[in-house]
Amino acid sequence: IAPVITIDGPSGSGKGTVSRLLSEKLGWHLLDSGAIYRVLAIAAAHHDFGPEDEESLIALATDLDVEFVANEETDLTHVILEGEDITLTIRTEEVGMQASKIAALPRVREALLRRQRAFRELPGLVADGRDMGTVVFPDAEAKIFLTASPEERAQRRFLQLQEKGFDANMNSLIDEIKARDDQDTNRSVAPLKPAEGSLILDSTDMSIDEVLQEILQFAHS
Ligand code: CDP
Repeated sequence: IAPVITIDGPSGSGKGTVSRLLSEKLGWHLLDSGAIYRVLAIAAAHHDFGPEDEESLIALATDLDVEFVANEETDLTHVILEGEDITLTIRTEEVGMQASKIAALPRVREALLRRQRAFRELPGLVADGRDMGTVVFPDAEAKIFLTASPEERAQRRFLQLQEKGFDANMNSLIDEIKARDDQDTNRSVAPLKPAEGSLILDSTDMSIDEVLQEILQFAHS
């Protein structure tokens, strides 16, 4: 069975970047579980299913026709939903909030478990999300909980959105990120929290490289 390193934490903590670089460095597979929830939110919108439509959402989650395709030219993992490239659109904060609402439904989460666990293949997996260490891969070799101050996380998300060509407003971003984190932390199923035995890293004043070094050291110990 392939080894797993889980990287969980709130929005804008740097999980995405760190997970991608770590998977490249180790030559391991990468699971961006948040992207699956975001894709589901878009698919639900396409079908006009709201968060109260639990049965329809479960069916959608079970049959979700999504592909993740690495593209070396753009250096992005392209996200293809029902043949349509939605790589950029899934990253907006609106989609993040919709994803978070859907993610609070226990049976929707359950319907996505198998799809997520299927990413665990040799030589190994880096899994990025909210419940990778607590629920999806409780037997992971190394569990990391990455965080940073809300202001720093909003700033990182701001730059990221700008880079992708989206308008972003720093003040509303701080509020949006806090609201989503509250929702993710206070839900009854798979709440956002450090898994037992996690290395908890506050990356507010750390460079990406420092974060990577700490994780590698922890994973090797
Ligand atoms: O990029 P960011 O950290 O802002 O968000 P994301 O990882 O793309 O996740 C979007 C939303 O999906 C989160 O706010 C969570 O509500 C949900 N999610 C989850 O519940 N469990 C996961 N393993 C990953 C994401």
